[in-house]
Formats: sequence, C-alpha cells, structure tokens
Amino acid sequence: MKFKRKDVLGLEDLTVEEINLILDTAEPMKEIMTRDIKKVPTLRGRSVITLFYEPSTRTRSSFELAAKYLGADTSSIAIATSSVQKGESLRDTAKTLEAMAADVIIIRHSAAGAPHLLARWVSARVINAGDGAHEHPTQALLDMFTIREKKGGFQGLKVAILGDITHSRVARSNIWGLTKMGAEVRVVGPATLIPPDIERLGVKVYYDWEEGLKDVDVINVLRIQLERQKKGLFPSIREYTKLYGLDQQKLQVAKPDVLVLHPGPVNRGIEISPDVQDGPHAAINEQVTNGVAVRMALLYLLMTGGEKDEISA
Ligand code: CP
Repeated sequence: MKFKRKDVLGLEDLTVEEINLILDTAEPMKEIMTRDIKKVPTLRGRSVITLFYEPSTRTRSSFELAAKYLGADTSSIAIATSSVQKGESLRDTAKTLEAMAADVIIIRHSAAGAPHLLARWVSARVINAGDGAHEHPTQALLDMFTIREKKGGFQGLKVAILGDITHSRVARSNIWGLTKMGAEVRVVGPATLIPPDIERLGVKVYYDWEEGLKDVDVINVLRIQLERQKKGLFPSIREYTKLYGLDQQKLQVAKPDVLVLHPGPVNRGIEISPDVQDGPHAAINEQVTNGVAVRMALLYLLMTGGEKDEISA
C-alpha cells in the first residue's frame, strides 16, 4: 500500500490501513535508531522546518532527530525570536518558508485548525504537531505504536484515558485512533474536565476512578494543563491528586499487567505518583523513543509515498 496524503493533520481522517502502514513502517525505523551510525540517506536533499508557536521538548526535538536520521536538512523557527514578534501573520510566515523550498512544515499552534489552514496555503507537506485542544496525531500514533508493541494489537483492548479530557488534544487523537482500531476506550476524570458530548466519539465515560480503571489493559494518564485551565475546574491540586492521580492503590484495580502511558511532560506527583511513573508498568521513556521512530515513518511516507524500497541502506 502506498501513502497518498499530502498532509497529516489528525487521526480523525486517517484510515485503519493508513494507521497500520505508519505503525508497520515505524518498526524498521526503530531499528535504525539502534545503530552506532544513526543515519540513512533516504531523504537526502529534502528540507524539514519546525514551526512551533507553543513550547515543546519531545515533539520538536524528535521531529528534528527523525528528519536528521533519514538524512534530511532541518531548520527550526524559534517564534520568540522570529518576525512573528513583529506582527507577521501565520500565512505570511508560511509563504516565506515555502519560498525557501521547504518540503515539510511541522506546526504546533494554540489555535485549533491552524495546521489545516497552513496545509491549504502551501504546497509543502504539513504535519500537525498539536493544535489547541483539537488533535496531536503523532502523539497518538506513538502511543498506539507502544500499545501494539506491548499488547500485540488493539482489538478488544480496554484503554482508559485518565484526567483532563476537555483540554487534551492527546485524548482526542487517541480516541479517534484507538476506537478505529477496535479498542474499547474509556475516559475517566471529574465531570468538570470531561466534555458533555464526548460519548458521541464512541467512548464510555466514568467519573469514578474505581469503575473506570477496573480491568483495563492500558491507562494513558494525561497532564493537568495548568496553563489552559480557567479557575475552579477542581477545588485544589491536592484534591485532584487524591481523587484522580494514578498511584499504587488505583493501579490495583486494573489488569495485573496493565501498561501505563503518559505523553509528557509529567507533573510529577500530581497526575501520577513518582513510584508509578518510575515503576515497572510505565513505558514513558519508551514512548519517547517510539516517538522518533513514528515521526521517521511519517516523514518517509509523506515524502516518498513509501515507494523507496530501501530505507535501511
Ligand atoms: N507530548 C508532547 O507533546 O510533549 P512536548 O510538549 O514536550 O512536545
């Protein structure tokens, strides 16, 4: 199967076949990362630009490393020191990058839909690295890659997404992707952090952690997004931690081999206790590794359609 898309903007519009192709392609990419010389010439001569209007550690650096491991040239626009500070619009910034012959633009923006606008304005390929509370497709793909690696597949798997669903683009992309692949997805958290119409996305809603986490195979713990919260969504951090923070007591109600994921960055000791974060069920650092492999796969598929037979030369 060939990958025929110009852009990757969300999991909502990716098919099961496309998701499988991305995850399958990430496997040989992960092997490249284990080599002493982590560099193949597959995307030599291609240019990748990251355009992040919001902070990032994992997503931006893993895209840059992914591009470099495949031999592409990379450039990073630091918004704080760019001409955005002089009032340049998103469209003009995008047209400027296009004029420099960018092949791929990777954008993170606080406004939902910004990557979709960009994709219409430029002929370069566009990847959404997170738009407001809408989607974060590459995070969901790396979460799914990690789940598939640990659990063997998705069909019938019980996955709980725990925490601040309302503000989470990670939750939305995971819901789109996991339900499509046949998992049973639950959202667990306080009513103030779960959108009232979320059930229409095919998930079950639990306000009680004990019911929501019972017998699940995977718990994906979300960060409490203090920077996006309006006041009063829960009484205090301490109360949130007591009622919804994942600790050893809450872990006991899940399956004995439960997999614990967190997209990062972690508010250590708030949404997850340090012993669970650093414990045997958690795969948080493996998620980061898998994030590079999945982003290598996406860059490769977008730029070659998967038609270059030799990716590991
Ligand atoms: N998970 C994630 O998007 O992390 P960063 O904000 O560090 O990119």
